[in-house]
Amino acid sequence: MTPVKTDLANVKVGEEISSIDGIVDGYKTYQVLRAGLELGLFEWLDEHGPSSREEIGNALSINGMFTRSFLQTLAELGYLSGKNDRFGNTVNATRFLVRKSPSYQGDWILNASQEHGQWDCLKDTLTSAAPKNTGFSDGPSPKFLRALAERSLRGEVQEVTKILTGWDGFSSAKTLLDLGGGHGLYAIAACQKNPGLHAVIFDKPHVIDLTREFIRHYGMEDRISVMAGDIVTDDPGSGYDIVIISHLLYKFRAELPSIFKKVEASLKPHGLFVSNHWFCGPVCGTGSSGVKELDRSIHSYGHPLCHPEEFASEMFKNGLVVMKKAVITTNFGDALVHLADKVPVGERRLPIHHESCGCESCQ
Ligand SMILES: C[S@@+](CC[C@H](N)C(=O)[O-])C[C@H]1O[C@@H](n2cnc3c(N)ncnc32)[C@H](O)[C@@H]1O
Repeated sequence: MTPVKTDLANVKVGEEISSIDGIVDGYKTYQVLRAGLELGLFEWLDEHGPSSREEIGNALSINGMFTRSFLQTLAELGYLSGKNDRFGNTVNATRFLVRKSPSYQGDWILNASQEHGQWDCLKDTLTSAAPKNTGFSDGPSPKFLRALAERSLRGEVQEVTKILTGWDGFSSAKTLLDLGGGHGLYAIAACQKNPGLHAVIFDKPHVIDLTREFIRHYGMEDRISVMAGDIVTDDPGSGYDIVIISHLLYKFRAELPSIFKKVEASLKPHGLFVSNHWFCGPVCGTGSSGVKELDRSIHSYGHPLCHPEEFASEMFKNGLVVMKKAVITTNFGDALVHLADKVPVGERRLPIHHESCGCESCQ
């Protein structure tokens, strides 16, 4: 091995290293928040109120050597208030880090570092030829769906519900089908807005127990049921006033015509189809930050859907005519909601053709 002759006394690192330190500190800060959640710190403080360092350390078995700096970090982050060396939850900790809060985000926070998850093994995620967990019996896990539910409640469920309730037929609608509903929050929110509405949440057999937990949690057992099946091969029934599909179609981009056909068959004439998905169009790679775009790709099986006009024209070919499109904000950038009317065969017109956006994933 050739010896390195660098003059060590003259090696300069300089202030520029601070951005690297910021990145590494970000990881450590995340681990502090994660440990706070895993130790049950915020739940304990919610139950016991502001407490001294010693009381907290003893209750949660934290080594006294670390208690001060651990609690101080959380105070600096704005999740603990520390007066006279007594620490309590701040308003934001109570809102986001205590499970009974409707805006709880703990599962979402912990999901980011899920062992063997997509971010935990990012190198493998980036270098694998195909996205993970695409088989019918692979995922999603209850943990992931809880995390997804928490993410969806940052505004997406609320915005989709607002758009849905603005539809003329909403107040007279009696039945709703949520295909690939998972946590079922879209169906639950719709049923809360229309007391005459009953819903079916359709999902994989290993998911529906978790769906039932959400239905029970919101006291909707008398109006919402679950149906286990595979959207590709099974029949979700017919005669529905509303069918919703949210963030399911990414891995089915090649099967869109047959899925739209199934949606059309399950709706009453002039029933409503609601789709909520991320799209790469009109131009791929614009809008959000690199990290958010990477996260969005990970959550959409490698790539969002392609040109929205092609998506709409595929619906059109199957008797679903888009009446309204709305952009809604999600934490991975904008999603596009399509509202389509099931037009009976005798009332249909000719389809319109659209160009592809030309990006590699869309061809
Ligand atoms: C990304 S989650 C979306 C959940 C919810 N709709 C939302 O927008 O938050 C996709 C859901 O579709 C379900 N799913 C995936 N493939 C399916 C299939 N072949 N048949 C039925 N459900 C499926 C998954 O189990 C999961 O609950």
